[in-house]
Amino acid sequence: MSVQEYLDKHALSRKIEDAVNAAVRAKTSDPVLFIANHMKKAVSSVITKVKARQILDSRGIPTVEVDLHTNKGVFRASVPSGDSSGTYEAVELRDGDKGMYLGNSVAKAVKNINEKISEALIGMDPKLQAQIDHAMIDLDKTEKKNELGANAILAVSIAACKAGAAEKEVPLCKHISDLSGRATMTLPVPAFTVLSGGNHASNYFAIQEIMILPIGAARFEEALQWGTETYHHLKAVISEKHGNMGCNVGEDGGLAPDISSLKEGLELVKEAINRTGYNDKIKIAIDVAATNFCIGTKYDLDIKSPNKSGQNFKSADDMIDMYKELCAEYPILFIEDPFDKEDWEHTKYFSSLGICQVVGDDLLMSNSTRVERAIKESSCNALLLKVNQIGTVTEAIEVVKLARDAQWGVVTSHRCGETEDSFISDLSVGLATGVIKAGAPCRGERTMKYNQLLRIEEELGDQALYAGEDWRQSL
Ligand code: PGA
Ligand code: ZN
Repeated sequence: MSVQEYLDKHALSRKIEDAVNAAVRAKTSDPVLFIANHMKKAVSSVITKVKARQILDSRGIPTVEVDLHTNKGVFRASVPSGDSSGTYEAVELRDGDKGMYLGNSVAKAVKNINEKISEALIGMDPKLQAQIDHAMIDLDKTEKKNELGANAILAVSIAACKAGAAEKEVPLCKHISDLSGRATMTLPVPAFTVLSGGNHASNYFAIQEIMILPIGAARFEEALQWGTETYHHLKAVISEKHGNMGCNVGEDGGLAPDISSLKEGLELVKEAINRTGYNDKIKIAIDVAATNFCIGTKYDLDIKSPNKSGQNFKSADDMIDMYKELCAEYPILFIEDPFDKEDWEHTKYFSSLGICQVVGDDLLMSNSTRVERAIKESSCNALLLKVNQIGTVTEAIEVVKLARDAQWGVVTSHRCGETEDSFISDLSVGLATGVIKAGAPCRGERTMKYNQLLRIEEELGDQALYAGEDWRQSL
């Protein structure tokens, strides 16, 4: 092929002329850079390679990380992993070889990405999130993503979402907002875990966590400041009452003193809030994670205490009485999983009392069939959104829509095993979920999420709206 034929084949003379004209029109001081960027934009982006590897999560347990290459750049994502995993959630593929990371390695999921998913996605436009996600769903062919692994699929789905945002040259949260068809983006109220128990800490406290929500702040940045100050005051309060040993932390950074009752925990938190002076501008929430201490139909709040376990069971009705009392005494906005994950009846009754928002986590497992049932039966009135229980960004958007259409609240959630990926921060803003729960305002894998929200708030400028008092149903 002659030079002229080559130029003609690729319409190069016209394209270069267009770029030069654009640089002249823009009167740019750096025409070479301008022309280079102009030419790059003229090329549409396609996925060229997907490369996965095994990394560690915050608990020292393997998880999947992926680098998704397009002809414009490399986009990285990794997936979290939780403690609670149920029959209805998408399957996290682990190798099960006890000689490797005690059975937790994820080599199969990594191989599935490198050998199967990569091949299926090469050439696709990263902006077309639904097409990418459906290509993986079709390749997997199982209902719960058993074949490829939800950990493999989600890592790629998130990386593609980041690539799509970059191609559109918009912030990730804006791309997510576009994908969901929502007009408004909202900075969520952070639900900071300040006290940890349950399966997340090695103390005797059966309840999984007590959170604080600075709903009275004007901006996310202020909410972060108040929450962090409260956390440090709480450390001092606990140190005075339980000694420094009480200030050890749980998996998501919450302080983990040996307290024996929910009331005792709430008193400590109340005292810490009082010391900040923000008082009624900071509210409280509880993740009971009651499934973890439900024995049959009874609840053993002393389950972790060897000397007391099994001696003082509470019935579901006793639990309701306890919640009623606590909600009357403390500013509790929501209770997550107040009963066992299969106890639809008491969850429904408790929700019907209307004393606080009732969030379904283990109850729903972010599973659309369970969410539909809960909506139909009015079992609870808010969704805890854990993307890795679903497996793709597209399906996460769909389940949030389901919840929204039913006038439910939505809490975007981290997992106890987190990574250095802050995708959920952009997700919570893009889907305007109103609340994000990402652990304590300490520990790198948790602060990553809150710090990213600071950056988003800064980037959105005047458009940044903090959910604040509208935490339940942000517009
Ligand atoms: P998990 O906990 O990640 O251990 O499931 C999170 C939660 O219960 O909210
Ligand atoms: Zn939970």
